[in-house]
Amino acid sequence: MNAVKKVEFKEYGDDRGHLVVVESGTDIPFLIKRLFYIYGSDGSVVRGQHANRESEFVLINIAGRCKVKVLDGKGNEEIFILDKPHEGIYLPPMFWKDMYDFSPDSLLLVLSSEKYDPGEYIRDFNEYLNEVALRG
Ligand code: TYD
Repeated sequence: MNAVKKVEFKEYGDDRGHLVVVESGTDIPFLIKRLFYIYGSDGSVVRGQHANRESEFVLINIAGRCKVKVLDGKGNEEIFILDKPHEGIYLPPMFWKDMYDFSPDSLLLVLSSEKYDPGEYIRDFNEYLNEVALRG
């Protein structure tokens, strides 16, 4: 679970407003091959509910607020509140994540080290636990 980390990004602010920089290799430990964003999910929705065999992610809630529950498949879990546009969490492969408690204005930006490949998603929790156990 120590590999999952909150990341603080540089925020350049002046009287014109704010600007946040996320640079591959400098601010996050992978090259960004894909980004996607999630919005319009309300407080009753749980998204994610999967693990990825290959992809690393950084999640940044750039507007509003949401929570991310992360499980390591070995009995440990951590809940992160994402509510700052200059703060994210880094997720290595093989962590189970649930995104939930979205505020109506939540805009969740996800940066990924891989292009989309549905084959590297594990969406069955028992299968996930088995794969974690097999990897040791
Ligand atoms: P899904 O993985 O269910 O979203 P989340 O886990 O964030 O709740 O994805 C929703 C739909 O979008 C699903 O049909 C797959 C598609 N999708 C892509 O085509 N490419 C992507 O990069 C992602 C993340 C999803």
